[in-house]
Amino acid sequence: MLHLRTGTVAEIVASAVLVFQLATVARSVSVTDIQGPAYLSPLRGQAVSNLTGVVTAKSTTGFWIQGPPSEDPRVSSGLSIFSESKSVLASVSVGDLISLSGTVAEFRSSSDPNNLFVTELDSPHSITVLSTNNTVAPLVLGPSGGPNARSPPTQKLSALDNGPDGWLSVPNNQSLVEVANATLRPDEFGMDFWSSLEGTLVTVRAPVALDFENDFGEFWVRGGDWEVTGQNGRGGLTITIGPDGVPDANPEVVIIGSPLDGSKNPSVSLGKTFSDITGIVAYQFGFYYILPLTAPTVVSTPDPTIPPATIKPSTDECTLTIGDYNVENMAPTTAHLPTVADHIANFLNSPDIVFLQEIQDNSGGTDDGTVSANVTLSTLAAAIRTASAGGTNSTYAFLEIAPENDQDGGAPGGNIRTAYLYNATKMSLVPGSPAGGALDATEPIVGPDGKVTLTFNPGRIDPTNPAWDSSRKPLVALWETPRGNRFFTINLHLTAKLDGSSTQGDARPPVNGGVEQRISQVATIATFIKSLLALDPNASIIVGGDCNEYVQTRAVFAPFDGLLTELDGAAGVPLVERYTYLFDQNSEQLDHLFVSDGVLQRGGLAVEHVHVNNWAPALSARASDHDPSVAMVKVC
Ligand SMILES: *[C@@H]1O[C@H](CO)[C@@H](O)[C@H](O)[C@H]1NC(C)=O
Ligand SMILES: *[C@@H]1O[C@H](CO)[C@@H](O)[C@H](O)[C@H]1NC(C)=O
Ligand SMILES: *[C@@H]1O[C@H](CO)[C@@H](O)[C@H](O)[C@H]1NC(C)=O
Ligand SMILES: *[C@@H]1O[C@H](CO)[C@@H](O)[C@H](O)[C@H]1NC(C)=O
Ligand SMILES: *[C@@H]1O[C@H](CO)[C@@H](O)[C@H](O)[C@H]1NC(C)=O
Ligand SMILES: *[C@@H]1O[C@H](CO)[C@@H](O)[C@H](O)[C@H]1NC(C)=O
Ligand SMILES: *[C@@H]1O[C@H](CO)[C@@H](O)[C@H](O)[C@H]1NC(C)=O
Ligand SMILES: *[C@@H]1O[C@H](CO)[C@@H](O)[C@H](O)[C@H]1NC(C)=O
Repeated sequence: MLHLRTGTVAEIVASAVLVFQLATVARSVSVTDIQGPAYLSPLRGQAVSNLTGVVTAKSTTGFWIQGPPSEDPRVSSGLSIFSESKSVLASVSVGDLISLSGTVAEFRSSSDPNNLFVTELDSPHSITVLSTNNTVAPLVLGPSGGPNARSPPTQKLSALDNGPDGWLSVPNNQSLVEVANATLRPDEFGMDFWSSLEGTLVTVRAPVALDFENDFGEFWVRGGDWEVTGQNGRGGLTITIGPDGVPDANPEVVIIGSPLDGSKNPSVSLGKTFSDITGIVAYQFGFYYILPLTAPTVVSTPDPTIPPATIKPSTDECTLTIGDYNVENMAPTTAHLPTVADHIANFLNSPDIVFLQEIQDNSGGTDDGTVSANVTLSTLAAAIRTASAGGTNSTYAFLEIAPENDQDGGAPGGNIRTAYLYNATKMSLVPGSPAGGALDATEPIVGPDGKVTLTFNPGRIDPTNPAWDSSRKPLVALWETPRGNRFFTINLHLTAKLDGSSTQGDARPPVNGGVEQRISQVATIATFIKSLLALDPNASIIVGGDCNEYVQTRAVFAPFDGLLTELDGAAGVPLVERYTYLFDQNSEQLDHLFVSDGVLQRGGLAVEHVHVNNWAPALSARASDHDPSVAMVKVC
């Protein structure tokens, strides 16, 4: 996934598009008059005078003032004053009660037109310091703020995310926040909540980290005492379905920006807690931020010990364990290969078959026409054998179909593909069909023995269908156990969420990059499964991989309805523990396993997500951005 941040502060300032018209007569107004109860200021473009407030914080591009509060919770009493003038900045200090004049503007960076506008005062002048050393008590968010405390709502981001899947509804970008300019409903919608505090000095008590920090040292938190929904055992917030049946957008969060005093935020990981954070509510880079006055300190760090899966291979030939792991751009010389091998051997307990995604060709990111990954896969298999704690004589066999060069997306030259590692003492490919090439579409047929087989084994599903343009084609295989019980596997890696828009941006619902293509991809897989089930309604089929989508985006997985059941649901994994990925504020599940009714009805299903990467103590300690999973199913 791409981080959505665009532009630095300097860039934004340089490219500022300041939208205002000069009014002829300046009005004497308060901060709350300027902020008003909606997204856009009622005084946009107007010259105002004799605006008073106490300076709460300063930056290199201006400062913030806080005026007398309004009784109306929709109306902020804080305001950003924009100025790069050294003399203007030198003329005020934190704690000064000032009066000033200027022009009300709505600003957004021209580098990302999907950002919301920030209400600010431009061209400040006639600044008079009325008194010094005033203090502004920050608004303490959450229940510890007292009887009138403000807390963010816990379900929805925007009133405009209306559709059956709320913020995940398809089609995306059906309306724009700044065009609708709704009156704020801060008790219901997270964006409205934060907008109602724009420019205000606030405190978050005992913040809990929801992800690693980003490249800029910024990190997402929830208040330790806030009411939240979707909280998982590590302290993060998992994407779930809300009480009204609509996906929960986890709006009860905020991102902590770079400290205003130049200090540096600490290193962050999921579940770490910090000292209270006090800062200014601002909007930048697509999100509502708190710009802390100073960096917080770490108060507690979660236990770094990561338990291995409890699911282990069985001696029963019908019971199979299945691993699923996006190993993030793995080539033979990739530094994280031995760590991934350790994960498969010692945390997934060497599953009977492993669905791998993001296996690169033998030359990795070098775009030299190499497409085979047999060296990558045999290097990984050898490393797993080395890593096996008990020592084993056994080395995984592997299976892949090399793609056409540079046709399946991913890092240029890497030719990522899906592949299997499998334990050849537990299963073998059903013989009698040729192995498919990159462009061969495999189809289910009834073989000479009367049993369903594949025209190509292994094969790819409909690889020339435009649904698979610049994307990994699913790898299908038909296997048999030593006693001849057959089962099908489909290993997929759906197209990525590239070019999405911020969840707190102008476009509603936010643009979910690649969602239309993922819908078509799932539809082609569903068509294949239907043709297979038409020949054998009891076929044992296991479908899995990196779907680059949450099941809460129901439009994507709708083609599977009635054909396949997701294992997490079938195995009763607690809703909040269903995650394999961290992105922004969310713990989310991009990696899924699905089974056909034939498998479902035999029961004995289990699945565990093993958080070897997303519970790492630091971003740099992760081997992959995805956590692996391990499952157990019965194929006979
Ligand atoms: C936005 O809404 C506010 C409050 O209703 C109104 O005063 C303001 O003029 C509106 N701005 C625009 C540009 O529609
Ligand atoms: C400026 O504002 C203050 C307090 O808000 C008020 O007392 C004063 O009369 C105003 N002055 C002018 C010139 O409007
Ligand atoms: C502001 O307060 C500090 C201590 O709180 C004091 O040292 C300083 O003299 C005060 N400044 C003014 C201008 O009153
Ligand atoms: C959303 O649609 C509008 C047109 O209604 C377009 O201008 C804008 O670029 C789109 N936003 C995104 C993030 O795609
Ligand atoms: C990879 O495939 C090539 C071509 O078939 C073969 O020569 C080579 O021995 C294989 N290497 C491994 C490690 O399997
Ligand atoms: C490993 O393989 C060798 C040779 O095939 C055999 O002698 C040895 O007993 C095996 N060890 C185990 C632990 O299976
Ligand atoms: C395959 O399974 C056998 C037992 O059924 C086990 O001894 C062996 O270690 C396994 N191989 C791998 C690569 O896990
Ligand atoms: C499917 O399985 C059920 C019970 O397991 C059996 O009654 C039925 O005959 C099977 N159908 C086919 C087409 O094999």
